[in-house]
Amino acid sequence: MYKQNKEVMKKVTVVLAHDNFENSIANQTIIKELKEVDQLEIRNIYELYSDYKIDVEAEQKALIDTDIIIFQFPFYWYSAPAILKAYIDQVFAFNFAYGPEGNKLEGKEFLISTTIGGPAEAYTPTGYNHFRIEQLLLPFEQTAYLAKMNYHQPIYEHRMVYVPGVYNTKESVENNAIRQAERLKEQINNFRQEEIEMNTLIHEFVAEWFGNFDKLAENGFFINHLDGKVIFKFPEGEYEGHAGFANWYDSIKETIKADNKHMVEIKSIKRDGGFYRVALEVEIDAETNSGEALKMKVKEDWKLTIGQDKHIHLHEYFVEKIG
Ligand SMILES: Cc1cc2nc3c(=O)[nH]c(=O)nc-3n(C[C@H](O)[C@H](O)[C@H](O)COP(=O)(O)O)c2cc1C
Repeated sequence: MYKQNKEVMKKVTVVLAHDNFENSIANQTIIKELKEVDQLEIRNIYELYSDYKIDVEAEQKALIDTDIIIFQFPFYWYSAPAILKAYIDQVFAFNFAYGPEGNKLEGKEFLISTTIGGPAEAYTPTGYNHFRIEQLLLPFEQTAYLAKMNYHQPIYEHRMVYVPGVYNTKESVENNAIRQAERLKEQINNFRQEEIEMNTLIHEFVAEWFGNFDKLAENGFFINHLDGKVIFKFPEGEYEGHAGFANWYDSIKETIKADNKHMVEIKSIKRDGGFYRVALEVEIDAETNSGEALKMKVKEDWKLTIGQDKHIHLHEYFVEKIG
């Protein structure tokens, strides 16, 4: 089983936008709870930039370096506090979040977590706020789509304001906030669990793939895992599609005997939008058909997808000789 260590554990960045955090009950409670989560950074953007002069470079770097982005804020006028709008306007820049080279946020998990003052019944067609929270948050949803992030159901709780003697109690607001934090933690765990499963699948697939190479198995096993437009780049040439693979594989079978050995080390597995990029180092120990020993060390870079049915398809397969 693939073990999750801290280097591969999905990192979380909480962008906290609150212009009165010292007097907050709800958001303070949530942040206090979230501090227990491993590999989680909180960026209190109002504290950092109360003059609204945002350090765009630092904020972009923080987003590039993370996997899960959470916007945490109190719901203000059916939206977010102004500092968060200023942050998005500046940080989600052309060729960063969108545009021809604007893929820096692609594939990241994106979660809105907001505390709602009003009661749930107000946010219905017949209630005084008319619209559902999900409708009011549509600009965030579309922002996520443009930036190619994975948008998830927003996490929020109602009745998050305490007006002494009039509306709620301090304790009820705190309890609601704890419930919201618990839901956030569960979602973070789900993302991380999913990642462990995907990593395990990739590890098992790599072992199976090279196991089949060792015995020079039938084409069928390999073809079954190749996208129709797969691109191969080998030291000996470039090949495309299933027919390309068959050509290359024929030449391999003409060159080496079965029962060769591939020693494989997975160097890294990274998400790239809907794809996974897998870096490998492989030592090949084989015997040629003419009886000579063939030893070679290569670096491989794979690009693959994992389908709903957990089936792996290779889209790119680049091999470079390193020894
Ligand atoms: C400027 C301002 C605007 C607000 N607008 C809304 C609103 O549109 N809808 C709502 O349900 N609550 C609204 N509230 C209530 C806040 O959502 C609530 O005070 C906040 O979520 C409590 O979080 P905190 O304890 O962390 O400050 C507003 C509060 C302020 C100060």
